[in-house]
Amino acid sequence: MTTDAIKGFPKDFRWGAATASYQIEGAKDEDGKGPSVWDMVCRQPGFVWEGHTGDVACDHYHRLEEDIQLMKACGLRAYRFSLSWPRIIPDGNGTVNEAGLAFYDRLIDALLEADIEPWITLFHWDYPYALFCQGGWLNPRSPEWFEDYTRVVVKRYSDRVRHWFTLNEPQCFIGFGHDVGSHAPGLRLGLSEVLLAGHHTLLAHGRAAQILRAEARTPAQIGWAPVGCITFPATDRPEDVEAARKEMFDIKASSDPHNNVFNNTWWGDPVVFGRYPEDGLRIFGSAMPRVTEADMQLIAQPLDFYGGNIYCGSTVRAGADGEAEHVETTPGHPLTLYGWKCKPETLRWGVRFLYERYNLPIVVTENGISCMDWVMEDGAVHDPQRIDYLSRHLKALRQAITEGADVRGYFHWSLMDNFEWSEGYKQRFGLVHVDFGTLQRTPKDSASWYAEVCRTNGANL
Ligand code: FCB
Repeated sequence: MTTDAIKGFPKDFRWGAATASYQIEGAKDEDGKGPSVWDMVCRQPGFVWEGHTGDVACDHYHRLEEDIQLMKACGLRAYRFSLSWPRIIPDGNGTVNEAGLAFYDRLIDALLEADIEPWITLFHWDYPYALFCQGGWLNPRSPEWFEDYTRVVVKRYSDRVRHWFTLNEPQCFIGFGHDVGSHAPGLRLGLSEVLLAGHHTLLAHGRAAQILRAEARTPAQIGWAPVGCITFPATDRPEDVEAARKEMFDIKASSDPHNNVFNNTWWGDPVVFGRYPEDGLRIFGSAMPRVTEADMQLIAQPLDFYGGNIYCGSTVRAGADGEAEHVETTPGHPLTLYGWKCKPETLRWGVRFLYERYNLPIVVTENGISCMDWVMEDGAVHDPQRIDYLSRHLKALRQAITEGADVRGYFHWSLMDNFEWSEGYKQRFGLVHVDFGTLQRTPKDSASWYAEVCRTNGANL
């Protein structure tokens, strides 16, 4: 690294923002799109806050050109978006929907035209309903279905797209979706079924990475985007740092079975090291599915970067026995509208710990804050909390880079306010405000602030 790079963000650092298909596109059954499991759960009374659905969402499907202009106003150099699998293959497997493919052609072409690099997420939770009816992720054929879908999109887009993520947050779509039941498909399975579904998603990741590597027309840069479950040290004392690191990577027996799959290593270790972590294997015991050596080899495909969706974390210090002790925040600590605690150090230590463990370049695939934003009397959306949150988190990220973490990009969540899963339209994460009645977009104050960060490569921080 040059001296300049050490002082700040590296020269080719990717500044971007992220979205996901179900959260923004709408057009729920247009032009041949098939239903997804989110279309399904949105019809269940009480599943989503105030009965909201993604039927229209931001109507991005019809407003693509306008939204690209907004991306430009936000200064984006890169845009992370996901493909709707059932828009492309309505039944999840089999017949391909040309109109669905054409929509993403238009998006990719318009991005390139605007000099914004497309970064595709293959799967961000809108699983084809037709495959769910065949057992979904529990079906041993599900990794093959994902491979077939990947082949279709790689063939179509890899002439123009170089950057790919396989899965977004398996912890959530398996944990919340198949264990807790608060996300689609809304299942509350037993531990062995949860682990089996999880194993299939990892196999799906491996198969997709393999296809991308072998068949992409421009050499693919491949990663994935798990949740970063972060603990960080209360001080820089080595004992605290080690306690926090251990806490971040250990899997512990939990009295709440729903905490089981919410960790980093159950997912990250197979993907990078080709093995499930010993502590998890011990705890899950006989609930573990049958796993072969060939499975583990398939899962551990070489990756070009490791993603982290990082929002919040907890503070830890070394107790008398060296074990981690969680440090409570003082009453009145800053909270997001979600109730998540604002702790900028999360980003510094999160990327450091992930980088040190997995030894792959890190991309922050999501980070941001939900605020109580609205269009004010002067017609603008003033969001000083978001600017302050971002300023502090990006400085913490810069510090991690200065301390040696190899971080290649940062994607703000999100480009615009959107359908926040079971929270409906309550949580606003965007740089751009969306009025969900009129669908009018209004860039918030943070949009021009972030544009300046992108323009100066963070030098204004
Ligand atoms: C992440 C999801 C993303 C968004 C943010 C707030 O867990 O990946 O779609 O909902 O949280």
